[in-house]
Amino acid sequence: MKILVYGAGVLGSQLAHVLVRGGNDVTMLARGQRAEELERDGIVIRHVFQFKTTVDPVQVARKLDVDDHYDLIFVVMKYNDFPSVLPILADNQSSNIVIVGNNADARSMQTFLEDNSRVEKRVAFGFHVSGGKRNDKRMLSIGVGKGLMVIGALDGEIPFQPLLDQAFVNAKYKLDVIDDIDAWLKSHLIPILMLNAVSFNEERELKKPEGSKKQLLHMIGAMNEGIAVLEAMGIAMIPKAQAKLIRKHKRTLYLMLKLYSILPMHKLMAGSFGEIEALNDAFTNWKKATHRPTPHWDVLKKEFSILK
Ligand SMILES: NC(=O)c1ccc[n+]([C@@H]2O[C@H](COP(=O)([O-])OP(=O)(O)OC[C@H]3O[C@@H](n4cnc5c(N)ncnc54)[C@H](OP(=O)(O)O)[C@@H]3O)[C@@H](O)[C@H]2O)c1
Repeated sequence: MKILVYGAGVLGSQLAHVLVRGGNDVTMLARGQRAEELERDGIVIRHVFQFKTTVDPVQVARKLDVDDHYDLIFVVMKYNDFPSVLPILADNQSSNIVIVGNNADARSMQTFLEDNSRVEKRVAFGFHVSGGKRNDKRMLSIGVGKGLMVIGALDGEIPFQPLLDQAFVNAKYKLDVIDDIDAWLKSHLIPILMLNAVSFNEERELKKPEGSKKQLLHMIGAMNEGIAVLEAMGIAMIPKAQAKLIRKHKRTLYLMLKLYSILPMHKLMAGSFGEIEALNDAFTNWKKATHRPTPHWDVLKKEFSILK
């Protein structure tokens, strides 16, 4: 199957590796030095916890032309990068698109694609559950197991599910198809935003959270407030276990966050302050629309974060 992975960063590279190994005809859309690296060396990934490095030759495209046709396009980039590629995807003649990554705004992205394309656009949204960062010319992956994507469509079943199944049939990679991907993505935003709000230094580089009792308690309080904002929007947090952990098992969550603040996890993950800013903007709009008070979030931002 002819597949484009649009976005050749950390998670795009991991997904392309899975799809190449699954026997698909994969092209990565990359720019600048990354395109040169991929052409010269292929997709080089150091799988940190599996103690192995994989190398997969891949085709490289530097742009997506109107007449290029792919059976499937996975767009794997930061939430704040999506707007720049939506018009290019709308112009292109391919129909089946999976937008992969943090997303506060899935509906408006889908509407843009549907309203601005000459061909029928069929859109799904996904989240590749993994992590990693760039390290010189290779990517580090901290993915465990064979890989997993939480995926779904906004209006019922994914209209190109058989194509997706076929793309992954030979890849030992799981698609966790869920009914309400928009709720899942919005739910995911809450802990990610509260945790990352305190995880960047003045230079906008990822750092360890300070991990003081005061900071962690405000973080947990802010997550709880985030759930209340979602509820006021008519969204029950999913997975439910995540809401239960935040609301009913604060001590366990506190210990988990404390551990996270001690371990040097930030050295194995890429952080993007630009994306966190964009997620913060989205959350601020939700807060305004729902009139929910967020005292913990307000203190967390004021005292511990460089977010405005
Ligand atoms: N990395 C992690 O540890 C991790 C963990 C959990 C979740 N996630 C989420 O997964 C999503 C993807 O993250 P990532 O780490 O894979 O991001 P990334 O490494 O920044 O990769 C994004 C890629 O998209 C490319 N791109 C952006 N705008 C483009 C454009 N207009 N045209 C062509 N290419 C463009 C970038 O190219 P350039 O390099 O040329 O800018 C980059 O290669 C994000 O939502 C992130 O928060 C990441």
